[in-house]
Amino acid sequence: MIREVAARPFGDQRPGTSGLRKKVRVFQQPHYLETFVQAIFNAEPALAGATLVLGGDGRYYNRPAIQTILRLAAANGVARVLLGQGGILSTPAASCLIRKHGAAGGIVLSASHNPGGPQADFGVKYNVANGGPAPESVTEAIFAAACRLDTYRTLDAPDIDLERTGEQRVGEMAVQVVDPVADYAALLEQLFDFDRIGELLRGRFRMRFDAMHAVNGPYAVEILERRLGAPDGTVVRGDSREDFGGAHPDPNLVHARVLVDELAQADGPDFGAATDGDGDRNMSLGRRFFVTPSDSLAVLAANAQRLPGYRDGLAGVARSMPTSAALDRVAEALDLPCYETPTGWKYFGSLLDAGRITLCGEESFGTGSNHVREKDGLWAVLAWLNLLAVTDQSVAELVRAHWARFGRTFYTRHDYEGIDADLAGELFDALRGRLPTLVGHRAGRLEIEQAEEFAYTDPVNGARSERQGIVLRLAGGGRIVYRLSGTGTEGATVRVYVEDHEPDPTRHGADPQTALADLLGLAVALPDLHRHTGRSGPTLVT
Ligand code: G1P
Ligand code: ZN
Repeated sequence: MIREVAARPFGDQRPGTSGLRKKVRVFQQPHYLETFVQAIFNAEPALAGATLVLGGDGRYYNRPAIQTILRLAAANGVARVLLGQGGILSTPAASCLIRKHGAAGGIVLSASHNPGGPQADFGVKYNVANGGPAPESVTEAIFAAACRLDTYRTLDAPDIDLERTGEQRVGEMAVQVVDPVADYAALLEQLFDFDRIGELLRGRFRMRFDAMHAVNGPYAVEILERRLGAPDGTVVRGDSREDFGGAHPDPNLVHARVLVDELAQADGPDFGAATDGDGDRNMSLGRRFFVTPSDSLAVLAANAQRLPGYRDGLAGVARSMPTSAALDRVAEALDLPCYETPTGWKYFGSLLDAGRITLCGEESFGTGSNHVREKDGLWAVLAWLNLLAVTDQSVAELVRAHWARFGRTFYTRHDYEGIDADLAGELFDALRGRLPTLVGHRAGRLEIEQAEEFAYTDPVNGARSERQGIVLRLAGGGRIVYRLSGTGTEGATVRVYVEDHEPDPTRHGADPQTALADLLGLAVALPDLHRHTGRSGPTLVT
C-alpha cells in the first residue's frame, strides 16, 4: 500500500557542491532522508517508469538508507532499480552502470572522503542520465522541492535481501541486485592493456594498493589480484568497513601516511596507490616519489596514446581552475583544446558529453576520462600501471622526463579547516573588495599582474557560475588562488593554492614548500590570513 507521509521540509542549509552531506544523526531524524529523496523524484519526473541505479560506499547507515529509498522509489513509480549487491557501488561504478544500462539516473550514498560511522558523515548524491553528478539546475530544483515538500510517498513493503543477486520485487518495482564490480571491471579491461599490466604485476615489480577500508577493497582485489594476477596482499586495508576502520578515507599525504611511509623506503614498492571512501579519488606514488595530482593529470595526458583506449588521441583536456597549469603546457605542445572549469566534477560533464574533451582532472586527487562521468580512482591507477608496463620506466623517471620536456610546475595547497564561517566570509569579502587595488602590488621579486574572481560560462550550454575563487596572477607565471570549500560539514575550510612554473626543473630542490616559500609568504600576508582564520598555519598541506 502506498502511503503519503508528512514530510520534514528543509528549512536547512542548501546541499553542498557534492550532494547532501550531513552527520549521520541528521539523516537519522524522522522523515529527513525521505524528504530529500522525494524531492529528487519530484524534481526528476523522468524517473517514473524508468531505471534507477542505486548503491553506496558502504559507510554506516548505507543499508537502512537503501531500504528506505527502495520503498520511496516503488511508491514513485520507478520501474526497475539496479542495486549493487550488499548496497555497494563505488561512485565510478555507479556512473558506469547508469550509462551502460540506460538508466534515467542514479542515487549514490556517500560522503566521499569524509569519515564514516554513527558519529561521522553520510551523504546522498543524485546523478543524471549521462552518469554524472546532477548539474546545478537539477540540484537547485531538488533543494527547492525539499524546502516546500508537504508529504512524501512510500510503500509498505518488507526489506529486500541485499545480498541475493538476481531479481526481487518491492511492490510492482523490479529490483535487480547485481555484482557491483563486473560491468565496471569489464569497462576498464577495454581501456587498458591487461596483458601487459598483468605481466608487470606478476614479475619483479611490486605494488601496494591501500583501499583504506573503503568501497574499493573488493574492486581492487578483483581487478588487481584476481584478473591481473598481482600477488595476494598487494591490496591492503581491502576489507570494507562501515567506519573505514575509524580512519579518514582520503588518499593524501596525511591520511594515507602508512602507504606514503612504505613508499619512502629505499627498498619500498615500485608503485603505491590509494583511493577514497567512494573510490573516485586516487593518490599514485612512486618509490620515494610523490606525484602531485596536477602532474599526474599532465603526465597521463602527454602519454595517453600509449593506452589502448586512447590510442587515437585526445579530443581535448580540462582541469579545474585551482589545478596547476602543467596540463596547459601539454595541451599547448600537443595542440589540444584545454578548458579551465570551476572546482567540481560536474563542470566536466557537458564538455565530455559534447566530445570536446577526453581527459580531465582536479588537483584534489581526481582524474578521469570520457569512459564514465565521474572521476575514477582505479582508472587512474590502471592508467599509471599501463604506462609503467609499456615504458619500462619507474614513476620517477616518467615524471622527470615529463618535467624535462614541459618544465616543472611547483605546486602546493594549504587548507585551513574548521574555520568560523563568519570569519571566512569576511576574509573573502575583504579580498574581493581589494581586488582592483592589488594589481601592481609588489613584495620583493614578486609582482601581482592580475587579480580577479573566477567565473565560468560553460561553452556548451552557456550556464554561468560566479564566485568560483579569487585568483592572483604574478609576473613570470606564478599564481595564488583562494577558495572556500563547498564540501565540508564543520565550519568553513579556506583553501590556498600556490604554484609557480620553472622551465629548468633542475634549478630548484625537490621540495615545493621551499621552492614556493616567497609565494606562500605573500599568500598569507596579503589578506592577513592568520588573523582572518584565527590560525597560525594550515591544518593540511599537500
Ligand atoms: C573538494 C575538492 C574538489 C572536488 C570535491 C569533491 O571540494 O577540492 O576538487 O571536486 O572535493 O570531491 P571542496 O571541498 O574544495 O569544495
Ligand atoms: Zn570521493
